[in-house]
Amino acid sequence: MVQNDNHIPSAPTLDKVPQHVAVIMDGNGRWAKDQGEERLYGHRHGVEAVRGVVQTAAEAGVRYLTIYAFSTENWGRPAEEVDGIMSLIAQAILSELDTLTGAGIRMRFIGDLASLPASLQESIRIAEAAVIPAEKLRMTLNIALNYSSRWELTRAMQQIAVAVKDGSLRPEEITQETVSNHLATAGMPDPELLIRTSGELRLSNFLLWQLSYTELYFTDTLWPAFGRDQMLAALREYGRRKRRFGRL
Ligand code: IPE
Ligand code: IPE
Ligand code: MG
Repeated sequence: MVQNDNHIPSAPTLDKVPQHVAVIMDGNGRWAKDQGEERLYGHRHGVEAVRGVVQTAAEAGVRYLTIYAFSTENWGRPAEEVDGIMSLIAQAILSELDTLTGAGIRMRFIGDLASLPASLQESIRIAEAAVIPAEKLRMTLNIALNYSSRWELTRAMQQIAVAVKDGSLRPEEITQETVSNHLATAGMPDPELLIRTSGELRLSNFLLWQLSYTELYFTDTLWPAFGRDQMLAALREYGRRKRRFGRL
């Protein structure tokens, strides 16, 4: 559990802490199967794993943690699983809200939120209304819900096209910054580290623009088994990476 601000223990020394970490939380279904349980059992334990990772990231000094909770493509799963995931997320947002707020962690949501079930939209509204004074703000937890990168980029292009059409922007004024400013992550640094669990080696339509120069960390650990030690191992590995950005 994330404890209140004054009680978060300081993290083990890390040389270099990423400001922004993105996570593809994958493997809940396989984890449940390994336990001889239904997939939703895995999703419930997946929520528990989020708690530990959020706390560890905040302790380590990460400023933004962006987690992939439900993709646009995940609507293709059986209705029972989709409904189960939606209600689990709606409940978890509300049950964690006070603890997170007390720890200086604010929740933000990225994705096509208008198509989510009404009860989930209500949880999101309540969570985003929580106020944390600037001096107490420790970390922003971005939860990607009904998110896909191609959806986000297409929306950005539509918004930019509208600005060109109404004359407030000239085509030659469109810069990389213009594009970044129209993404759901506007105003945040790009992630320096991406973690994907469960051994899959792909991005699955997550943050394609923002991950251009991100360090990638893949682990076979299934998401519900990804805890504090695994998170610290990923952060330590990041500290060993040499980032060159095309230079020498
Ligand atoms: C990740 O676990 C959670 C979501 C995509 C919502 P999965 O449900 O994809 O689990 P696996 O990959 O089938 O094991
Ligand atoms: C990616 O996991 C989406 C989330 C973690 C929410 P998936 O399990 O949906 O990805 P694929 O289908 O293996 O690419
Ligand atoms: Mg999966």
